[in-house]
Amino acid sequence: MKKLFVLYRIIILAFIAVIFTGCVNNNAPNNNSTVTEIKIGVFLYTKDDTFISTLQSNLEKAARNKEISDGIKIVINSFDGKGSQTAQNEQIYKCLEQDYDVLCINLVDRTVAAPIIDKAKINNTPIVFFNREPVKEDLERWDRVYYVGAPASESGEMQGSIIVDMYNSGKYNIDKNGDGKLQYVMLEGEQGHQDSLLRTEYAIKTITNEGIQLDKLANESANWQRSQAASKISQCINTFGDDIEVILSNNDDMALGAIDAYKAEGIEKLPVIVGVDCTEPAVEELRSGNLAGTVFGDFKGQAQSIIDLSCALALGRNPENYVDLEDGRYVMHPYIAVTMDNLYKLELK
Ligand code: GAL
Ligand code: CA
Repeated sequence: MKKLFVLYRIIILAFIAVIFTGCVNNNAPNNNSTVTEIKIGVFLYTKDDTFISTLQSNLEKAARNKEISDGIKIVINSFDGKGSQTAQNEQIYKCLEQDYDVLCINLVDRTVAAPIIDKAKINNTPIVFFNREPVKEDLERWDRVYYVGAPASESGEMQGSIIVDMYNSGKYNIDKNGDGKLQYVMLEGEQGHQDSLLRTEYAIKTITNEGIQLDKLANESANWQRSQAASKISQCINTFGDDIEVILSNNDDMALGAIDAYKAEGIEKLPVIVGVDCTEPAVEELRSGNLAGTVFGDFKGQAQSIIDLSCALALGRNPENYVDLEDGRYVMHPYIAVTMDNLYKLELK
């Protein structure tokens, strides 16, 4: 009788164990999960942005490679926010009602992540924000929220160092009028974007900290856009003419817009122009000598981390085993300063 009782207890315990494991599997797949298809929603602030579209094509490449290496299927559906947070919210909320495993979000307005995070939490759908960094307090609303990007201040420092190195080398006649100061125009990206604010601040700090005097002629915002920068710089050419010695641009597209403006005016002797991103068309202008330098924003590495992180989250694996996390939720890829001196060392495809 006693033996029979023990047997019953074993059977009941085993039964409970089976039910319990079943529950865990339903809520968050574990390492032994049999998930073979991962569905990722990618939300872009706009597709009409060179760096973002480069990042997106690298996401596709990283996903295809991961499918081969890990033997899983990765479905990526992309949505274009077209610069409207309202439109992007609708896209996100619709996907939250569907069977997406992870949402990768490039916010239109980086200050309004909170309601999105709260809804995702209710649905238990993890989020990987990228490129447009939400504020820390928002990211901390839930532990299944991450950010993949780059330390913006570093790109400003590197851009500033390119100018410092050129000035100090004495090989370039940057200070054209010889007044001991660099007359410059700052081309800024979108107002409020972490990259606009920090690149502007740190590029200037880096140059002045080296004892080089700056003389600001103008500060223009061109929203990362080539055509807007071209029209802003042609106005500057009309106002300041040959006085412009340096153009510091928060990104490459705007630097290319500045070059367009000089070409349109038929001016051959360009000021020293520097950008950030290292996009393909910027590299072409670097080679042709119109762009003095740029800073590589590691779109390849960022895309890889977004995919690695997304897959780990979808499969219920520990993200720390797949990406280098700072403060438990940030993946930050370092920048690289690029001039003709080191371009050949970079494998940019
Ligand atoms: C920056 C990049 C810009 C623009 C912006 C969009 O990191 O340098 O070119 O793409 O992101 O958020
Ligand atoms: Ca000068």
